[in-house]
Amino acid sequence: MNIYNQRIMITGAAGGIGSELARALAEKGADLALVDIDANKLGQLKRALRERGCKVDVFPCDLAAPDAPQRLSEQMIASTGGVDILINCAGIASFGLFDQQTPENMEKLWRINVLAPMQLTRALLPQMTARRHGRIVNVGSIFGSIGFAYFTTYSASKFAMRGFSEALRRELEDTGVCVTYIAPRYTKTPLNDGVVSRMAQAVGMNSDEPSVVAQHVVRAIEKDSKDYYIGWPECLFVRINAVLPRLVDGALRKQNAKTRPFATQE
Ligand SMILES: NC(=O)c1ccc[n+]([C@@H]2O[C@H](COP(=O)([O-])OP(=O)(O)OC[C@H]3O[C@@H](n4cnc5c(N)ncnc54)[C@H](OP(=O)(O)O)[C@@H]3O)[C@@H](O)[C@H]2O)c1
Repeated sequence: MNIYNQRIMITGAAGGIGSELARALAEKGADLALVDIDANKLGQLKRALRERGCKVDVFPCDLAAPDAPQRLSEQMIASTGGVDILINCAGIASFGLFDQQTPENMEKLWRINVLAPMQLTRALLPQMTARRHGRIVNVGSIFGSIGFAYFTTYSASKFAMRGFSEALRRELEDTGVCVTYIAPRYTKTPLNDGVVSRMAQAVGMNSDEPSVVAQHVVRAIEKDSKDYYIGWPECLFVRINAVLPRLVDGALRKQNAKTRPFATQE
């Protein structure tokens, strides 16, 4: 898909991956609609992109609010007639023992990571199918294919996004609207607060810069990829886990033992 002149909406656009993605897509001549809870960071990003001559509008919004996706999509359709590409990138993580998670945090995570992307997609889809043109890009995770201990709620939300992407892609076949699921591995962004980055260092997790992830997302869109996994050997582990999960149980046992002390710190 050619990105030039496409109207692209990015959620979580003020974040580590989202802001790099906004810059990369602006370079390609996209017309951007940027959504994030952080209005100040969005404003700064808008100014920086406009100085470079990019077309950009911002929509501060808390996607955890139950009616936010519907309001946002109505606003988007009213102001611009809709979008060509929706990139569901906003997400929050949770790290720690599962029985220590509060119901409130679990619900919030599920709203931001799963329900908001699904509701935004549902609301923006009719204007895409009517034009027989569009793409939904869902940012998942390697943890959406390999269930990771101490990231249980987060992993579950990314499994949900992978299933949503696969089912929707099959449902939309022949409509002119495509679905791309992208799975980054550990990326150096504010999502991974202090304890997670210390844990990642201690267990030797491979990592990427958010600018690198953004370039992969751009490539996935340009190549019309259906699924796109970032990083080696993580891509291989995803495949092994799909066919031989007991083997991966064993391989992760040592890593879990190293991770546990960090998970019990909070
Ligand atoms: N970083 C990784 O290791 C990694 C790996 C695989 C997949 N991913 C996925 O990549 C995506 C982007 O993550 P990231 O690493 O760029 O994280 P990030 O730097 O924390 O960016 C996420 C952005 O979403 C915003 N956001 C949070 N809650 C929101 C809400 N209720 N409404 C609207 N916006 C909200 C955040 O705002 P605040 O900062 O103000 O909360 C932040 O600007 C996520 O879906 C994540 O799951 C990340």
